[in-house]
This record gives sequence, structure tokens and C-alpha cells, in this order.
Amino acid sequence: MNTLCFDMTKTIKKEELQVAAELIRAGELVAFPTETVYGLGANALDPEAVKKIFLAKKRPGDNPLIVHIWDASQLSLVTEEIPFLAKKLMEEFWPGPLTILFRRSKNICDEVTAGLDTVAVRMPRHPLAKALLKEAGVPIAAPSANVSGKPSPTRAWHVKEDMDGRIACIIDGGAAEGGLESTVVDVLEEPLVLRPGGVTLEMLRKIEPSFSLDPALHENVQKAKSPGQKYKHYAPNAEVEVYVLEGDALIETIKNRIEKLEKEKVGLMVCSEHVSAFLGYQVMDMGQKSNPEIASEKLFEGFRTFDKMGVELILVEGFSDTHMGLALMNRLKKASKGKIYTK
Ligand code: TXA
Ligand code: MG
Repeated sequence: MNTLCFDMTKTIKKEELQVAAELIRAGELVAFPTETVYGLGANALDPEAVKKIFLAKKRPGDNPLIVHIWDASQLSLVTEEIPFLAKKLMEEFWPGPLTILFRRSKNICDEVTAGLDTVAVRMPRHPLAKALLKEAGVPIAAPSANVSGKPSPTRAWHVKEDMDGRIACIIDGGAAEGGLESTVVDVLEEPLVLRPGGVTLEMLRKIEPSFSLDPALHENVQKAKSPGQKYKHYAPNAEVEVYVLEGDALIETIKNRIEKLEKEKVGLMVCSEHVSAFLGYQVMDMGQKSNPEIASEKLFEGFRTFDKMGVELILVEGFSDTHMGLALMNRLKKASKGKIYTK
């Protein structure tokens, strides 16, 4: 299949947007930018179209998809029940990087929910995502537009790398500003964060103080509420190790670790404060330690860039588990398969 690529990094091009929307309505796959990562979209009301997502991504069939809507009225296509707390969260955080679980309506097929009785819904705020949703006129089911297990795409070239020839169209909107996937919450019983993201636990607790983290996020709970949590995720080809250390201790530990390794085989992702300590190495600046939002935006781009360079080991400076740091450390834990060192 020849994959169309529409450059909309500068402006939304009306005619090309109409082509992309028509492809969605015709049951094809279109990748598009959101304010978190790029999504791989299909008409959420068309089971055959949704099946194509699983094929293109090589995604396990038991991992459900997020349905994207462009305004609150579309929610009635997806669910018949809006819990009180969900309503408050929608008012506060939509459009934005928050995905909320609802009881699914009959319109939503098993292909979207992987047979669960809930459906995950998000209203994105990225102008191109909104424009595509509006033009298509149907809710769009979209996981991240990577091959399953790989880092989520935050640039159109990442999508191309994984999906060229496998999908109908890619809309290039430049960098996805948030860089990490949306927060997923379940408020149908006790309020739980199933996946941390740009809407932080601290922000959620301002609305509902009893919000807590799904225990599956901490340790090896057998059955995670969010099926996606059990799969290997976000991993580059290179091995990843994470160092949650400060100042000299961080610099010394990393230097000892890489001393005997070939410089070309090592990639470092450290905060601005520490970049100058590693002159001569391949270093990516993750922004100031006090600003995990910048590191979040750069993480997956860094992974893919180092993979392209043929790096075999990526060492990443870790952050504290608060605010945006929680989502960042969640992705790093998965990418490193738990290789997080604190001394
Ligand atoms: O930021 C994002 O959320 C991006 C953009 C494209 O919107 N999408 C994304 O989708 O990250 P995906 O498929 O890569 O991750 C969706 C997560 C998975 O962990 C999945 O298991 C969980 O949401 N999920 C979806 N529906 C669910 C449901 N009904 N119950 C529990 N977890 C659900
Ligand atoms: Mg994903």
C-alpha cells in the first residue's frame, strides 16, 4: 500500500484533511498527531476498520483501544452513562491528555473494547486531531501509532518508520508536544489511575482527593485493570538503564558504568545540569531536572534517535516519582524492564 503523507506542520490543509477524513470513513487507517503522541486512527463504529489497527500494529487482540471524540455530544454514541466524577473530570481536563473509562454502549464493538464492558474515551486538544475528528464526523479509535512494544511515536518520521506501506495516510503535524501517552483513569468504582500521564495524580486529587494508583503500577499484580500494562512497552532496541541519582553521584556512577564500553555503542540521556560532564559521548539533553515535562517530550524521540545511530546501551537520568515525573518513571521502568538504580 502506498502511504500518503500530508505535511501540515505549518497549517491545516483543508483539501488534504478532507482526503484523510474520507479515508477514515471508508474504513482505512490514518495516523495523526495529538498533544500526547501520534495516534493510529480508524472509524470506531466500523469493526472491520478497527481490526486493521490490530494487524498494522501487531497488537495483541486483548488490548483495548481508546476512542477519540471531538465534542461532548459524541459521547452519547459511545456510552449511556456519565458518572458524576467523570463529568467533573471532563469539565476540568477535556480537551486534553486524559482518558476516562465508561460503560460501553451497544454501538461500540468488541474489537474496540477487547470484549470488556467498559470503553476508554478521550477528547484530544491538538488542533489537527480535532480537525480530523470533526471532518470525519465519527469517533476515531486510536492507539499509539507504533508497532506494539516499540516506543510511542512523537514525530511523523517515527510513524513512517513503523507504518510506511501498512496504512493509508500519515498527517505530519510536527512534534507531539506532550511526548507521553494520556493518563487513563477508571472512576466507575473507586477512582483509580490505570496509566499515569500529562494529567497528574496531584491534579486529579484536586478534583477528587481519594484518587489512587492502580496497584498493578507498583508491582506484579496478576491482573492489571488496564490490559496494556502487562505488555512490554516503550522499549527501544537498545538496552535501557535508569539512574535515579543526583550531582556527583550520578556522574560518577554513569562514568564507571561506561568506562570500558565503546563510545559509539552508548547513548546518554541526562539533564542539562549534567551534559557537560560527558563530553565526547553521545549525549541527549533532557532539559532541567526540575522540569520533567521537557524530559517527557524528549524521551521517545531520544530512544528512536539512539536506535537509528546503532547504540546498544542507553543510560537515562531518573526523576522523582511526583507530578509529571510519575508518568516518566512509569515509561522508564517498562523500557528498562525494571533496571532502575538508586545507588
Ligand atoms: O495519549 C494516548 O492515550 C494515545 C493517543 C493516540 O490518544 N493513545 C494511546 O493508546 O496511548 P494505546 O492503545 O497505546 O494505549 C491505551 C491504553 C492501553 O494500556 C489499554 O490497555 C488501555 O489504554 N485501555 C483501553 N481501553 C481500556 C478499557 N476499556 N479498560 C482498561 N484499559 C483500557
Ligand atoms: Mg501504545
